[in-house]
Amino acid sequence: MHLSNRSQQLQPSATMKISAQAKQMVADGIDVINLSIGEPDFETPDNIKQAAIAAINDGHASFYTPAAGLPQLRAAIADRTAADYQLTGLTGKNVAVTTGAKMALYSVFQTILDPGDEVLLPEPYWVSYAEQIKLAGGVPVTIPVGDSFKVTPADLEAKLTDKTRAFLLNSPENPTGVIYDQAELQTLKDWTDAHDLMVVTDDIYGQLTYNGASFTSIAQLTDALDPNIIIISGASKTYSMTGWRMGYVVADAALVAKVSAFLSHATGNPTAVSQYALLEALTGDQTQVEVMRQAFEERLNTIYPLVTALPGFKLDTKPQGAFYLFPDVAGALELTGIATTGELVNQLLNEAHVSLVDGNAFGVDHHIRISYATDLASLKKAVSRIADFLAAHTK
Ligand SMILES: Cc1ncc(COP(=O)(O)O)c(C=O)c1O
Repeated sequence: MHLSNRSQQLQPSATMKISAQAKQMVADGIDVINLSIGEPDFETPDNIKQAAIAAINDGHASFYTPAAGLPQLRAAIADRTAADYQLTGLTGKNVAVTTGAKMALYSVFQTILDPGDEVLLPEPYWVSYAEQIKLAGGVPVTIPVGDSFKVTPADLEAKLTDKTRAFLLNSPENPTGVIYDQAELQTLKDWTDAHDLMVVTDDIYGQLTYNGASFTSIAQLTDALDPNIIIISGASKTYSMTGWRMGYVVADAALVAKVSAFLSHATGNPTAVSQYALLEALTGDQTQVEVMRQAFEERLNTIYPLVTALPGFKLDTKPQGAFYLFPDVAGALELTGIATTGELVNQLLNEAHVSLVDGNAFGVDHHIRISYATDLASLKKAVSRIADFLAAHTK
């Protein structure tokens, strides 16, 4: 058997791996609370399910669609993005629909990167960015951002080379929950403009903001979409549609044509029935979106003080978006004498039956990621299990 160098270097997604382990423990009858995956616990809203069922019954879902998606869906995404971002001139030609935002990102990296091209990646970063950049022959250039969790033009400048091709921005961010404000985005855009770099902006959590915080995308700083900016988004988080695998790219039409050509060989069209579901999600009743957003807000407001009260857990700035906490746990390691963050996460899973993600999966040691996309009772129980674990292991 021969395995390519590329596949040998590839690591499985850490979040999917640990979550699969937690799900297996639950299947084995162990009462594990799974806070390791970024997956809303709500069922997809009923109007979306019904639209999908109707598409199946009408026979619409039986056939191939264009590789970049149904024309009416591409147009709906263009209209919705134009309205939400106040951008002029967007049409369906600016949109490619993909098998989740994951495939949107993958197809973009395949389209914009040549071997050796560097992508600036603020660290911590979502697990798949670095692997996807490498799969496209590119080089992820990570930029540690410190306690503020926000990158500045000076940080970017320090890593600029003649190979730098793009900057990847994710706001609201996974795993930190931070949101960049308009002034911060403007300084970043001034810098990327000065160096004629592309910006891939992953806006998948754009509608999940809390306690009055608002979301601005770097794509909104011009009246018409800047050809150097590529918007990534999708339905997984906002509409609780992780299983449907619906994401999209919004970008310059010439770039989207290349993404579409790539998709025509990689996936063909994204699953037809899911496209009808996304069409309803974007154009139908939005009531459930707000219901779910409010539930996440309540969970954040409940769990943040509980987590920061845990001995050895430090998270000074309350997150404003997405559904994660990313506390520094160096103090907990010191208190317990547990040697590594990975070992702490391991013991919390096996002894306390709480599944979390080691910050090293996001490029940062001494942190763990806690997803609060689960019900309040489970969240409270999980924190109290962690507290008991820490008390039992304190030296
Ligand atoms: C920042 C970010 N981008 C993209 C994705 C991919 O989402 P999906 O492929 O489910 O649309 C995720 C999922 O966890 C994410 O957290």
